[in-house]
Amino acid sequence: MDRQMAINAIRKKLKESRFDHSIRVYETAMKLNEIYRVDEEKLALASILHDYAKNLSIPETEQILKRAGCYEKELSYNSEVWHSYAGSELVKTDLGITDSEILQAISYHTTGNISMTLLDKLVFIADYIEPARDFPGVEKVRELVLVDIDKALLKALCLTINFLLQSNIPIAIDTIEIYNKLVKK
Ligand SMILES: [Fe+2]
Ligand SMILES: [Fe+2]
Repeated sequence: MDRQMAINAIRKKLKESRFDHSIRVYETAMKLNEIYRVDEEKLALASILHDYAKNLSIPETEQILKRAGCYEKELSYNSEVWHSYAGSELVKTDLGITDSEILQAISYHTTGNISMTLLDKLVFIADYIEPARDFPGVEKVRELVLVDIDKALLKALCLTINFLLQSNIPIAIDTIEIYNKLVKK
């Protein structure tokens, strides 16, 4: 699977607005990689495909996770985050992607995880700051990521956790764990 094939795959799978978002995340990830230098092909595929399952219905998404049989914890999370894990499963079965680093970056792109790699963090942050994102605090994350990706991630997690608290939405334990790890640094 190369980048063009991945782009063709999401063109078929996603609504136009979600497709455009995915391309912006990809372009943002490529820019960040001029600083961070992870495996470019893996970052390209993970960022292009990160929302592969985003336009499925909640019951379809739930079905994919139940069928996979190893997402008991994730199924207890808010259904908003399920598309990450379902996306990881679907790019495996639909597109034959087996690279565990790409699959993990897709899995962790919404909740984060205590064992995030640099690749995972780049996909997470690219998704968070792509140019169409416009919410209070995003500019700070854009500034921080040019200097220190962990500081940028911590800021993004703070903003997300604050939003979830104020909206009465449950917070995934994975999000709390990566927040705790970074805040102690
Ligand atoms: Fe997503
Ligand atoms: Fe996204």
